[in-house]
Amino acid sequence: MHASRRFRQAIEQRRQQQLYRQPTLIEQYQGRLVQVAGQQYLNFSGNDYLGLAQSDQLKAALSEGALRFGSGSSGSPVLTGFHYAHQALTDKLCDWLQVEDVLLLSSGFAANQLLLHTLPDKQDHLLLDKLCHASLIDAALTAPCSYSRFSHQDWSALDSKLRQHSNSWVVTEGVFSMDGDSPDWSRLTALCASHQAELILDDAHGLGQSGPEGRGSWAAQGGNVAGISALMANFGKALAGQGAFVAGSTLLIDYLRQFGRHYIYSTSLSPALCWALCTAIDLCRKEQWRRDKLQQHSELFRRLATEAELPLLPSATAIQPVLVGDTEKALMLSEQLKQRGIWLSAIRPPTVPRHGARLRVTLSALHQTEDIYHLIKTLRSLW
Ligand SMILES: Cc1ncc(COP(=O)(O)O)c(C=O)c1O
Repeated sequence: MHASRRFRQAIEQRRQQQLYRQPTLIEQYQGRLVQVAGQQYLNFSGNDYLGLAQSDQLKAALSEGALRFGSGSSGSPVLTGFHYAHQALTDKLCDWLQVEDVLLLSSGFAANQLLLHTLPDKQDHLLLDKLCHASLIDAALTAPCSYSRFSHQDWSALDSKLRQHSNSWVVTEGVFSMDGDSPDWSRLTALCASHQAELILDDAHGLGQSGPEGRGSWAAQGGNVAGISALMANFGKALAGQGAFVAGSTLLIDYLRQFGRHYIYSTSLSPALCWALCTAIDLCRKEQWRRDKLQQHSELFRRLATEAELPLLPSATAIQPVLVGDTEKALMLSEQLKQRGIWLSAIRPPTVPRHGARLRVTLSALHQTEDIYHLIKTLRSLW
């Protein structure tokens, strides 16, 4: 194969740059604990913010869904892949988020591709925050219109770009996945409104963990969903499932249903999973204690890390990155933590900017107070 040599070289280069990636085989997942190669670790690298992934009610709902609807959807939603369970999940999302309609997609990555490929017209312009997720950046690169990026959360930079481009779509995240911070909602929406720009919000990390009943980052700041043209979030984080949705007006969702290739030409989610997600939303809405716990953990972590003089980024969410800078050092710290029973992955470029390697602590409602004390004590001893 003529490409083999190139593949080998590229992989070797990745190894030399300490950027080689490999999945870890998780033998057992128990919320705050993971078991790898027979060894248990305190887990600070998951996205199970509310600790729902091991909930007995969710397991029961998934089993019931499988018994009622079978395992797979057996087709695209526009053929035979849209079942009663998909409609139930759609209705649940509309009621929870107070939106007119929702489209279900097989992943957040696909949802972001669909949004940036389908919504803008040729003469439109996409404006992305510089720290947007890879799924948004890749989608912008191949979108049908021009795009540019503005410095992270820099409102005057965004304002001047909006002045240069009419028919803009501003694309940002509710909680930035690698930094844990959120845009200032009133400034962002005021800017979009004053320039008549459309707003696309990826709230993958905000949904469930913030806002009244876990509606998301915009709701946490008292925002109105009507200010968002297209709201996207995935089910793989706080809701402990898989897949994603896009929410918006009846008109926008109908347009995506007609022209969204990632929707039309893709097998829809498993109906059993959709059934379980309905239960996940119910639990998320009514079990406020999970968000309260998460908030307490994040405040405690910040207080202790500040006292220990660890370099934190400004985040008030369950994502608490400790900036290391050097990739090798971040990997070494992660390894040393592992030897002390703590699973905390190093995040390296290109996921984060060059010299931006970090230990990205993610908290869960299932963590215990002593877990956080233990993490900080260990980090301080290694730093
Ligand atoms: C901000 C953000 N958007 C989109 C995605 C992609 O979602 P999915 O994992 O469902 O493909 C992720 C990662 O999971 C993410 O962190």
